[in-house]
Amino acid sequence: MRTFLVVLAAGMILTGAGCQKQEETPESQKADQTQKTTEAQSENTGPFAEAIQLAKEKGCFSCHDVSAKRVGPAYKEVAKRYADEEGAVDILVKSITEGSMGKWGTIPMNKQTGVTKDQAKLLAEWILSLK
Ligand code: HEC
Repeated sequence: MRTFLVVLAAGMILTGAGCQKQEETPESQKADQTQKTTEAQSENTGPFAEAIQLAKEKGCFSCHDVSAKRVGPAYKEVAKRYADEEGAVDILVKSITEGSMGKWGTIPMNKQTGVTKDQAKLLAEWILSLK
């Protein structure tokens, strides 16, 4: 995706095509290109920048990684498992706000106190986008 944008940008400069045909580049994505990023950040920028920030603040990354299993499942695995599941967002919101056990292994996840339902929804939507 990024490579595509870079190629596109280079192409536009070379041909002097200008910006007639505007390619949408969200502000946050532009910002991201100048920023050194962790894997989690670079995996998903733009609409989910807020969710990633939230996940950091709430300590989700102490047990989860985007693509590696840690104490909890990799978020990509979560996204895969629920890819075709109806109401996946709600299921994950429930797990985040009420806790989850027995779905991924023997270690349960306590309910994440200090995460509101709206925040959990944002986190769930981001996680589900990672597949
Ligand atoms: C202390 C470790 C720990 C922390 C902190 C933690 N998790 Fe988890 N998480 C787990 C474990 C362990 C599981 C697997 C639970 C199971 O098997 O049902 C899990 C499972 C999940 C799942 C899958 C639930 C399902 O229904 O399949 C999601 C989504 C998730 N966590 C999101 C989060 C988010 C978002 C945060 C931060 C607000 C967070 N976790 C913080 C350990 C943690």
